[in-house]
Amino acid sequence: MFEGAAMSEEGLARLEALWKRGTDFLGSKYAILGGAMTWVSERHLVSAISNAGGFGVIACGGMTPDLLAAEIDATRALTDKPFGVNLITLHPALDELIDVCADKKVSHMVLAGGLPSGNAIAKIKGFGAKLMCFAPTAALAKKLVRSGVDAIIIEGMEAGGHIGPVSTSVLAQEILPVIRDVPVFVAGGIGRGEAIASYLEMGASGAQLGTRFVVAEECIAHENFKKAFIRASARDAIASVQIDSRFPVIPVRALRNEGTEKFMEVQREVVTRFQGGELSQEEAQMQIEHFWGGALRRAVVDGDVETGSVMAGQSVGMVKSVEPTATIIDELVAQASAYLAA
Ligand SMILES: Cc1cc2nc3c(=O)[nH]c(=O)nc-3n(C[C@H](O)[C@H](O)[C@H](O)COP(=O)(O)O)c2cc1C
Repeated sequence: MFEGAAMSEEGLARLEALWKRGTDFLGSKYAILGGAMTWVSERHLVSAISNAGGFGVIACGGMTPDLLAAEIDATRALTDKPFGVNLITLHPALDELIDVCADKKVSHMVLAGGLPSGNAIAKIKGFGAKLMCFAPTAALAKKLVRSGVDAIIIEGMEAGGHIGPVSTSVLAQEILPVIRDVPVFVAGGIGRGEAIASYLEMGASGAQLGTRFVVAEECIAHENFKKAFIRASARDAIASVQIDSRFPVIPVRALRNEGTEKFMEVQREVVTRFQGGELSQEEAQMQIEHFWGGALRRAVVDGDVETGSVMAGQSVGMVKSVEPTATIIDELVAQASAYLAA
């Protein structure tokens, strides 16, 4: 039994009722999605989450169609439970990646990284997969539902990785009351089951967590990456800082390190060179954008947590130790059940 969370039959029954729409949609025991994380969410973590009753999602990231096909097959070899595939809409081979998912009869797809085109939505719906998309505002959530999207994910700025400007609690209040036709899953800053239960009570159908699963035993992230998560507190997970409004910076939440400090220096240098006429605006912008190229891989795969990008959400403060995925999920369910029974 977990600290502060005596499993309660009554609380569990209430939890099952509250997220039934989510579990029916996902086909999983619990409506807890393991948010896709590039370089992190591959066969091992995805199958472990699905085997533990949650819903794992493969992060395609920059994979080629062949690599994605192999990853789907390898995941199927490790679990007979449902899982999804997350594609980034900006991927240059998006069409071919969707073809791979169609060919592999993937049951659930997530399109991330910007609003999907009508063509991508039609292609995915065409092969019968259920499609989930991120909605940054209530208006865009309604538009996505009208375009045929089957479920919405709302993700607040507390989350790890690429973020929007609005917090999870505000998005939940703005979007949950108005999107009733499709399930809505809430992500960003969720570290405990009580938070999941409270979003369900507000009308969510389930929750998506990323940061907490990074330290799962089955997760292949480098030991240094996991140790950095265990050491960090919420305030170490900072959003990338833009120093000049003429040079936009993609907002990313990651742990403060040498890399995040150096990024500020590089921006200052580049702006000075632009002002001195040494670089065009376009060249300056490219130098800023290229700074983080390959940096997530360096941190996750090579363990360079000093200069790499250690993407993590504010819930990192609730990450205490490396544990089996099933323990993390059971703990979340026990906390949610205890909260609902209280
Ligand atoms: C290291 C890392 C990589 C991520 N990569 C992706 C990605 O490739 N696609 C995506 O849709 N979300 C990505 N995310 C966001 C997660 O899927 C998830 O929505 C988020 O982590 C939830 O918030 P939390 O970190 O507070 O739990 C990433 C998050 C992290 C921490």
